[in-house]
Amino acid sequence: MTEVVRSWLRQARRIVLLSGAGMSAESGVPIFRDAQAGLWANFRPEDFATEAAFRARPAMVWDWYQMRREAIAKVEPNAGHLAVAAFQQRHPGRLTVVTQNVDGLHQRAGSPGVLALHGNIAADQWLDPARACCEASLPGGGQPPSCATCGNLRRPAVVWFGEMLPQRELALAQQAAAACDLMLVVGTSGLVYPAAGLARSTRGKVVVVNPEATDLDDAADAVLRGSAGSLLPALLGDG
Ligand code: OAD
Repeated sequence: MTEVVRSWLRQARRIVLLSGAGMSAESGVPIFRDAQAGLWANFRPEDFATEAAFRARPAMVWDWYQMRREAIAKVEPNAGHLAVAAFQQRHPGRLTVVTQNVDGLHQRAGSPGVLALHGNIAADQWLDPARACCEASLPGGGQPPSCATCGNLRRPAVVWFGEMLPQRELALAQQAAAACDLMLVVGTSGLVYPAAGLARSTRGKVVVVNPEATDLDDAADAVLRGSAGSLLPALLGDG
């Protein structure tokens, strides 16, 4: 099947790669929904990844994100990220990366114009709209930085459950999905919308790359069971 997909890739004028947490698994970033080792294994996402959770327990949620930030800062892009970026350099403008990942590894591998649908864990933003006083923030031990005057808090610049996706990135991703001949769906369980909806709405062929069954397998023209780090170099490499 890998050879068939390679021939589809050769023919495809426009390609979208939609990635999820499994794309970064071989870099050492834990995925979300693994019953034993996943980030959500011991608690419900609503306890951490929502605005209400942050307002209720800002120090706990901030600490959890600080731990993830520190872990992500130590890892490197893997062979899958590098194969994607190398393909884009050889074929400018032909492949668009749309990612649910907040780890920045596609960007660090050298992929241009990555559409990061769920934000960027390395960045912060104000919790409430910035006021005139909110220019500086004061870091506090274990607490999110805050405005000394009004108390507005800094929060991670990621999309939490119940929040809108960044409109520009989502619109560009929808355009790319509508226009592509082939979509590679890599390392995502396909459970979170609207990201998963991109694979359901494309008119192009859909190829799932994942070692396990996913919710998008039924929408796929081909399912390749294997890891991103081994299959993407085989699919996108020169040879
Ligand atoms: P999940 O944790 O739901 O799924 C990760 C997928 O990666 C699973 O299908 C695994 O089988 C697969 N996988 C594991 N190792 C892999 C490897 N080496 N190569 C390829 N695939 C591998 O993560 P996402 O689908 O990304 O949202 O989750 C989607 C969203 O839900 C995340 O962006 C996050 C989460 O809650 C927000 O935080 C808003």
